[in-house]
Amino acid sequence: MDVRAVLEREREAVEAGLRRVLPPEGAWPERLTGAMRYAVLGGGKRIRPILARLACAALGGDPDAVTDAACGIELIHTYSLVHDDLPAMDDDDLRRGRPTVHVVYGEAMAILVGDALLTEGLRILAVHPHGEAWAARRAEVVALVAGAAGASGMVGGQVEDLEATGAVDDGAHAARLDRIHAHKTGCLIRASLEAGAVWAGAGREIRERLAAWGRGLGLLFQIADDILDATATAEELGKSPGKDEAAGKLTYVTVYGLEVARQRMDELEHRLVEEAAALEGCNGTLAALASWVASRRS
Ligand code: IPE
Ligand code: IPE
Ligand code: MG
Ligand code: MG
Ligand code: MG
Repeated sequence: MDVRAVLEREREAVEAGLRRVLPPEGAWPERLTGAMRYAVLGGGKRIRPILARLACAALGGDPDAVTDAACGIELIHTYSLVHDDLPAMDDDDLRRGRPTVHVVYGEAMAILVGDALLTEGLRILAVHPHGEAWAARRAEVVALVAGAAGASGMVGGQVEDLEATGAVDDGAHAARLDRIHAHKTGCLIRASLEAGAVWAGAGREIRERLAAWGRGLGLLFQIADDILDATATAEELGKSPGKDEAAGKLTYVTVYGLEVARQRMDELEHRLVEEAAALEGCNGTLAALASWVASRRS
């Protein structure tokens, strides 16, 4: 399995989808739509829409039929990055290799860009894929993605991430850390895979197994993010490294140290690769993707 070739092909499909679903250049209100396009089209790994497409394909669906819908999830993810970078949150100046949205457009506009990307992302999920035949699946996906992004999902994780920042170790760090990661990152990654399963028309049992696998992948993804913050360069990452320790964030590296974090990541990767075979057969794309997540440098 040439995972790089798969990712390249997938990214091309997603980039084309994003250009279809985003407000066109110059659309009213121009400063807002310009900033939305700046946030979304400035690079990014596109892992969530790719997971949705790959899960759909692995379960017998047509990935090209769901690309535009999957791009709705990328808009929601991008909103979370724009808000995560705000001075009131992580206060970051660099994202996807460029100055963050609030640096270029100001804080008020960055807040509104996030608002617009979230609502637009949900609208896209409510209308794509088009047609009456998809109506029930669209409704199911909107509910599942909104649930994953909201108070009991990603936003909840962001709240606990902020609450835990700079907190003294009260003996509950390890449980807290896993809860933060499961929510701030795991929920949307799991929901992306589940959306792919719903679009493919998969049954309840397979969907639940995929969701459980997605929770593991979300944790793997965030452990890798924590490790990269401590080990990668700004050029590799497209964001400023070394921020977590300086800010007093609860991460796998700040809680367990680099060596244990790497060990946990390797163990989790092996488990996920094995479990993927049960879902998609041997040498499938999901297994290859899990390995790629663990070895990524960006
Ligand atoms: C960054 O997400 C925020 C996390 C949840 C770790 P990504 O690493 O997917 O960021 P992009 O989309 O590739 O920029
Ligand atoms: C962000 O986690 C998670 C969300 C945006 C929901 P981080 O704060 O670790 O992400 P980066 O490192 O800024 O990309
Ligand atoms: Mg953060
Ligand atoms: Mg951050
Ligand atoms: Mg991070």
